[in-house]
Formats: sequence, structure tokens, C-alpha cells
Amino acid sequence: MKFTTPLLALLIAAAGAGPGRAEVDVAAASTDGVRHFNAEDIPTYVINEDGAVDWPTFSGFRRYHAECHVCHGPDGEGSTYAPALKNSAIKMDYYDFVGIVASGKQEVSSASNQVMPAFATNPNVMCYLDDIYTYLRARGTEAIPRGRPAKRMDKSDEYAAAEKACMEGS
Ligand code: HEC
Repeated sequence: MKFTTPLLALLIAAAGAGPGRAEVDVAAASTDGVRHFNAEDIPTYVINEDGAVDWPTFSGFRRYHAECHVCHGPDGEGSTYAPALKNSAIKMDYYDFVGIVASGKQEVSSASNQVMPAFATNPNVMCYLDDIYTYLRARGTEAIPRGRPAKRMDKSDEYAAAEKACMEGS
């Protein structure tokens, strides 16, 4: 433990360095075998000592680029049309984030007619929403760079079972 203390202090200092980052709790406190959660039971990412992201975060990268990036831009960076979700995943409450994806959102303004579609009936989004969320949190905290994560951990049996059950609607 003697050796880990200075490293931990360094990591905490680095995490607190960016604006608004100190209050974002991305530390994994528990797991259900499918994914990891912080102390508040909000889904979070894990990156191991080899720099590999956990499977759900990698899945989130793929699903984001299949379903969201056409409007929100690559890597959660935003576009002229839709906001940068890497920031939304940090600033917004998790439940608000999930609610907007399920129900959609339309800016009520005469100057714009931007529409965020409702995805509640789309299993390709809803079964992977926590994956997309953790991927965007990893981008928002800059725990991972832009682009496809170079290394990933394997898909767990628990993840495969949960994915199958969700996609089959059971
Ligand atoms: C057809 C284009 C389109 C697609 C596809 C799309 N969005 Fe959106 N999204 C928008 C627009 C436009 C807004 C801004 C709406 C507003 O502010 O009224 C938005 C807003 C949001 C917000 C609120 C962000 C904030 O900071 O207020 C979230 C969260 C969100 N989208 C998540 C997603 C996710 C996750 C996906 C993929 C599963 C997705 N969106 C796919 C267009 C899209």
C-alpha cells in the first residue's frame, strides 16, 4: 500500500485538474458482472493497467457511432446541429440523459427546429444506452482520446446473457 499512495494522490490531482471535473464521480465502486457502477449506482467505465476499456465502454463507442454520431458528431464532439454529448454526459443528471434519449426533445424556439428523436422503441439504442453513456463519460473526462479505443477487455458471459435477454425483449 506504501507504493500506491503517491500514485493515487497523483491520479486524484489529475482528475481534479480540469474545470468542473472534480465533482464528476467516475470511480467504479461496484459491478454486477455486466458493467461497473460508481458509488451512486450510476454506470461508469473502467480502464485497466494495459489501457484497455471495459467491454460496455467499447460497445458504447460502436453504438454511439451507429446511432448518434450522424447528428451529434464523431467522438461525442458535437456538430452545428446537435450538442456535444461528451459534455452532456458530464453535466446532465444520468436519469435526465436517459429520459431524453427515450422520449426525445425539441427546442421550442422560432429560430430553430432541431429535433432529438425518441428512441424508446429502438432496442439497438435502449439495450445499449448505459454503454453509450459510459463511453460518453469516458470521452467527457478525457479518460479516452478521440477515435476507436485501441484496446478493450473481453465481453463477459453476464454481459452476453443480459444483451441477449434485452434484444429478445425478455
Ligand atoms: C436526428 C438527429 C439526432 C440523432 C440521430 C440523435 N440526436 Fe440527440 N439530439 C439531437 C438534437 C437536435 C438535440 C438538441 C435538441 C434540443 O436541444 O432541443 C439533441 C439532444 C440530445 C440530448 C440532450 C443534450 C443536452 O445537453 O441537452 C441527449 C442526451 C441526446 N441528444 C442523446 C442522443 C443519443 C444518446 C443519441 C443516439 C442514441 C442521439 N441523441 C441521437 C439530434 C439527434
